[in-house]
Amino acid sequence: MVNDADVVLEFQQVSKHYPGAEHPAVDEIDLVVRRGEFVTFLGPSGSGKTTSLNMIAGFVSPSSGRIVIDGSDICDLPPYRRNLGMVFQNYALFPHMTVWDNVAFPLVERKVPKAEIRRRVAAALELVHLGGLGKRYPRELSGGQQQRVALTRALVFDPPILLMDEPLGALDKKLRDTLQSEIRRVHRELGITFLFVTHDQEEAMALSDTVVVFERGAIQQIGAPDELYRRPRTRFVAEFLGESNLLDGHLERAGDTWLLRTADGAIPLDGWSAPRDVPPGGHCVLFRPEDVRITGPEDSAAVWRAEVREVVYLGSEERIVVSSESGVSLTVRTSGGTAPRRLRTGQTVGVRFVAQNAWLVPDGPVRSTTAPAAAPTS
Ligand SMILES: Nc1ncnc2c1ncn2[C@@H]1O[C@H](COP(=O)(O)OP(=O)(O)OP(=O)(O)O)[C@@H](O)[C@H]1O
Ligand SMILES: [Mg+2]
Repeated sequence: MVNDADVVLEFQQVSKHYPGAEHPAVDEIDLVVRRGEFVTFLGPSGSGKTTSLNMIAGFVSPSSGRIVIDGSDICDLPPYRRNLGMVFQNYALFPHMTVWDNVAFPLVERKVPKAEIRRRVAAALELVHLGGLGKRYPRELSGGQQQRVALTRALVFDPPILLMDEPLGALDKKLRDTLQSEIRRVHRELGITFLFVTHDQEEAMALSDTVVVFERGAIQQIGAPDELYRRPRTRFVAEFLGESNLLDGHLERAGDTWLLRTADGAIPLDGWSAPRDVPPGGHCVLFRPEDVRITGPEDSAAVWRAEVREVVYLGSEERIVVSSESGVSLTVRTSGGTAPRRLRTGQTVGVRFVAQNAWLVPDGPVRSTTAPAAAPTS
């Protein structure tokens, strides 16, 4: 159970139906965010991430449901009364104001005394290493610097929650990596709640305590990055986060262990801890690329034969795609010489699976997992 004092934000059965749209953009979502948590909304384009964030910010009003911050429903408050920090993909700095005045703006608006503004703006700019750039105008800054200023302006008035919608989307990969660590550091140092939106699963995994996976306006799963990676509840989550090998087959007991029967042969699942109830019928079992091993074609312990389709050198590791006899494509990642040397496309190999890491994907959409039902207030 979540202690109420720890909860900063709650979605209770929140939906958004835009006028004229066939499907709801957000469909009865429940979510609990704890104070100080770094939460990321992750999902493909059009899945409802921005709509959800904008309902928190107050730019979009829900069609039904409640959004609660610190115990009060905020749906009737205009955006400026919600006191939340916001950063968007397009920097949205005031072009005619210097960096200093941009950052001071939220404090001036709140009628903070001048000396206090000077102190806080200086400290905030120091936090993101922009201390020397106060006199510049936004057009005199790089994209990364502009985004740092936007972050500073969103934080300078100590909001309880910082909302960020794809803030790094317009930056190149290297700069994105740098700013990701900066955002993580600022989160650690300030300890406030961060709500971040991205469609980039690596970014979500790198930044977050908790990832909320959206698809078609519904929440598919909520969890820590490693939980989503290792224990996805749906095929969609398994495929959207990281690379996945989803094998269709039938699970069968074999003495005190299990077998996965597939078109390419049975895979013994020694050491696999099966869920309590394995439903009858077909099953979908996940192996991550690092849980598949390529061996020589004569390996008697190999459970499948396959043909190498693609070998990609990635520096510290290789990404290999093989195709089984029945045509199932498997992605394998090998590092530090775990594969036979010099694999060539067209070559026949053996395949083994790391049975302990098999994960039975409970199929079908799962609306919400860890979010507890709202406790009745009586
Ligand atoms: N103002 C609007 N009026 C009508 N429909 C809208 C409006 N804004 C968004 N939508 C629709 O609502 C759905 C969800 O959109 P939303 O912007 O929340 O998605 P998203 O997950 O943020 O996508 P992206 O990754 O592309 O930013 C989409 O089908 C979109 O077309
Ligand atoms: Mg969006």
